[in-house]
Amino acid sequence: GLPERVDVYEVGPRDGLQNELRTLPTRDKARLVEALIAAGEKRIEVTSFVSPKWIPQLADAEELLRLVGRREGVTFSALVPNLRGLSRAKEAGLEEAAVFISASEAHSKKNINKSIAEAVAEARQTTEAALKAGLRVRGYLSTVWGCPYEGEVPVSRVVEISRALVDGGIYQLSLGDTIGVGTPRQTETILSALLEHIPVEKLALHLHDTRGTALANALVGLQMGVTTFDASIGGLGGCPYAPGAAGNLATEDLVYMLHGMGVQTGINLDKLVEAGMVAQELIGRKLAGKFLQAALGE
Ligand code: HMG
Ligand code: MG
Repeated sequence: GLPERVDVYEVGPRDGLQNELRTLPTRDKARLVEALIAAGEKRIEVTSFVSPKWIPQLADAEELLRLVGRREGVTFSALVPNLRGLSRAKEAGLEEAAVFISASEAHSKKNINKSIAEAVAEARQTTEAALKAGLRVRGYLSTVWGCPYEGEVPVSRVVEISRALVDGGIYQLSLGDTIGVGTPRQTETILSALLEHIPVEKLALHLHDTRGTALANALVGLQMGVTTFDASIGGLGGCPYAPGAAGNLATEDLVYMLHGMGVQTGINLDKLVEAGMVAQELIGRKLAGKFLQAALGE
């Protein structure tokens, strides 16, 4: 049967806004985060402590964390690529850091200017230091379903890198379909291979919806026991170093499907639509989320 309850991990403010050409003012980002909290979201990736030269849209990470403050029952997290990022994150009072690496050499080079081996070593070093500092650490593995530069990514390599990250002490590994190329049978193959080595509670799915397959892949994950899904409000998002990467699976589309199947999330779908309206207003255009557009068209 399906799990009774699923955790939604919101990435709109980070994955969404990192890809917008126009940088939103910090107060607008804070308003978006407030709307997500009002909808009952409990885990929100709000920004990145990466190089502002690489992602200028998120250069205000410290200021945003100051504005949103600490919230009872809500965990804010942020991407942290290295020790420099960790020291910024600690200073800002962040409780959860997310390290991130790639399963393909070309994407790794473009995204963080490192080989996979260098990136694994750095992610493990950052994880160890973050754990020592009392942070929770999540991990991402990108290009699991395919790479924009190299195409196919062998499952055996995904398993090997995933094990190295999990051994490094992350509490959860989020598997990224960075460019949204995955199909359901492939998802089953990937998860089956990983589940031989990693308990399902440690896995999350981070699906971009470039080709409309994100929800189908999420359903496969759900049926295989995955209980954490990343999503972004209205389907905001992409990856600036992965050409063609569209938005993440829209939070409302995921929540609508889950609630309809009797799986609880603790999120209020009506309020989520309001958050989607806030996101559209702030970025000044319609978002791709299907449930959002259906709700607004009624
Ligand atoms: P680099 O240029 O190779 O390294 O960047 P560097 O150490 O030479 O640093 C360059 C400059 O940045 C230096 O400044 C550093 O001090 C500074 P300068 O001396 O030139 O003035 N710097 C920093 N500043 C602030 N915070 C830091 C930091 N680190 C260095 N933490 C680096 C290497 C990793 C820093 C860079 O490549 C980078 O920041 N990359 C991030 C790219 C990124 O954020 N991509 C998008 C997120 S990944 C994603 O979206 C996928 C995901 O959603 C999952 C999926 O969909 O698959 C997670
Ligand atoms: Mg992503």
